[in-house]
Amino acid sequence: QSSKKKIGQCVQAINSTLILTSKQNKKGSHTQILIKKAEIDAAVQLLLKLKVDYKQMTGQDYKAGCPPSENLIVSNNGPAADDCDGEDLVDPWNVSASSTKGVDYDKLIVRFGSSKIDKELLERIEKVSGQRAHHFLRRGIFFSHRDMHQILDAYEKHKSFYLYTGRGPSSEAMHVGHLIPFIFTKWLQDVFDIPLVIQMTDDEKYLWKDLTLEECHRFTVENAKDIIACGFDVNKTFIFSDLDYMGASPQFYRNVVKVQKHVTFNQVKGIFGFTDSDCIGKISFPAIQAAPSFSSSFPQIFGGKKDVPCLIPCAIDQDPYFRMTRDVAPRIGLLKPALLHSTFFPALQGAQTKMSASDPNSSIFLTDTPKQIKNKVNKHAFSGGKDTVEEHRKYGGNTEVDVSFLYLTFFLEDDEKLEKIKEDYTSGALLTGELKKILIETLQPMIAQHQERRKQVTDEMVQQFMTPRPLNFKF
Ligand code: TRP
Repeated sequence: QSSKKKIGQCVQAINSTLILTSKQNKKGSHTQILIKKAEIDAAVQLLLKLKVDYKQMTGQDYKAGCPPSENLIVSNNGPAADDCDGEDLVDPWNVSASSTKGVDYDKLIVRFGSSKIDKELLERIEKVSGQRAHHFLRRGIFFSHRDMHQILDAYEKHKSFYLYTGRGPSSEAMHVGHLIPFIFTKWLQDVFDIPLVIQMTDDEKYLWKDLTLEECHRFTVENAKDIIACGFDVNKTFIFSDLDYMGASPQFYRNVVKVQKHVTFNQVKGIFGFTDSDCIGKISFPAIQAAPSFSSSFPQIFGGKKDVPCLIPCAIDQDPYFRMTRDVAPRIGLLKPALLHSTFFPALQGAQTKMSASDPNSSIFLTDTPKQIKNKVNKHAFSGGKDTVEEHRKYGGNTEVDVSFLYLTFFLEDDEKLEKIKEDYTSGALLTGELKKILIETLQPMIAQHQERRKQVTDEMVQQFMTPRPLNFKF
C-alpha cells in the first residue's frame, strides 16, 4: 500500500517536472534545463526502483490508476523463511532457533499449517500396522503430519501406498543426523510392507553449492551406500540420481514439466525466498523435488497408475517443497502427497541449530572412529549440567537443553533406561561426565555396526538399487 502511494507520488512528481521543463524550455537558460534534466533522471531512477519494489510486493506490474488485484502472494502459509519477531528461522537452507531449547515445534505447526501427531494418531498407527509405534513417534521426534489419517483410512481398506524420501548429496561425509529419516523410513517400509523411492538430488547440490556435476554424482553413489547400509530391501526400494533418472524417464520429466507450468516465479519467491539474481536452475528445481510425489513418475514400479497415494517422511525444513507440491497436485489432476515431519537433529553445540556436515565439530560423522566420537562428545556436546559438582548435586541438570541427553532420546531405544537417566540427571545423582559416557557407549557400537554394514555394500548392490525396475509388493 505505502509503496503504491510512493509510486503515485513519484509519477506525479515526474509529470509536473516534465510540464515545468517543457514550459521553461522555451525561454529557460541552458543551465536551468540541465538542472531539470538531472532531476528528471533521478526521478526516473526512483520510479524504476519503486516499480521493482511494487512488483516484489504484489507480484504484478505497476499500472497507473490500477490497484493490485486480490490474488497476491500465493504460498498458503506465508513465506517459509520468516525470521521476524524473534521467531525461529526454518527453511530448506537454514535452521536457527531463538531459544536454547531449540525450535518451538508447536509454533511451527501453527505457522506451517500442518497437524500435530497426537495420541490418537499414534494409536491408529499402532492399530493399523499391528506394531508398537517407533520410538521416534513415541518421543515426538516425528511430531507433525499432513493427511496421515487419509493414508491409514485407505490402507485399512486394502488400498496401499508408497514411501518417498530423499537426500541432497552435498559431501561424502554423512553424519548421524542424516540417518534419522532413513532409519524411520526403513521402519515404515517394514511395518507396512510397501515400496519406497529415494531421490538423490545431485542436481540440487550442483545448483546450490560450489561443486562440479561429477562431484555431486559421486556423492550420490557414496551416500547411497550409507543409505543402503540402513537395511533397505532391494526388492522394495528404488534409489535414483536426478542427474541420471531425469533424462531416462519420460514420465518423470512430464510430471516435472506439468508442475513447472502450474507454479509461477512469484509463487516460488513467496515460498522459498528466491530473488531475481538466483539462477533459473534453482527457480525450477522445486518441480523436480515435487515429481516423485506422483506414482506416475515411476511407471516401471506402478505400471502407469496415477493414483497410488504417497507418504513422505522428511525433516520439517523440507515442508516448503511439499506445500508447493500439495498446492499444484489437484490442478494437474494428481493426488496430494501425505507427510510425516521430524524435528532437527541438534548440533553438538546445542539445539539452537541443526547438525551441519560443513562444521566438523558440530557433527558426529558415520566415519568417525570410537576415539573421535569420545573426544567430540566430551569436548563439544553442550551440557545442561551445573558448573561444579557441588552445584550439580544440589540443583541437578537440565535435560531440555543437554545435547547428550537429546541424542539419547534419538538413539537409546530402551524407554525405562531413558526415563531413569532423565530422573537421575534432573535430581543431580547423575553427573554430566557420566551422562556423556552413556552417550559415547551408545554411539560407538551403533556407528561401528553401521561402518561394518556399509563395508558389505558393493558397487553391484548400489547399481541394483539404482536400476529402474519393477518392485515386489502386493496391493
Ligand atoms: N532437498 C533434500 C535435501 O537437500 C533432498 C530431498 C529430495 C528430500 N526429495 C526429498 C528429502 C524428499 C526428504 C523428502 O536433503
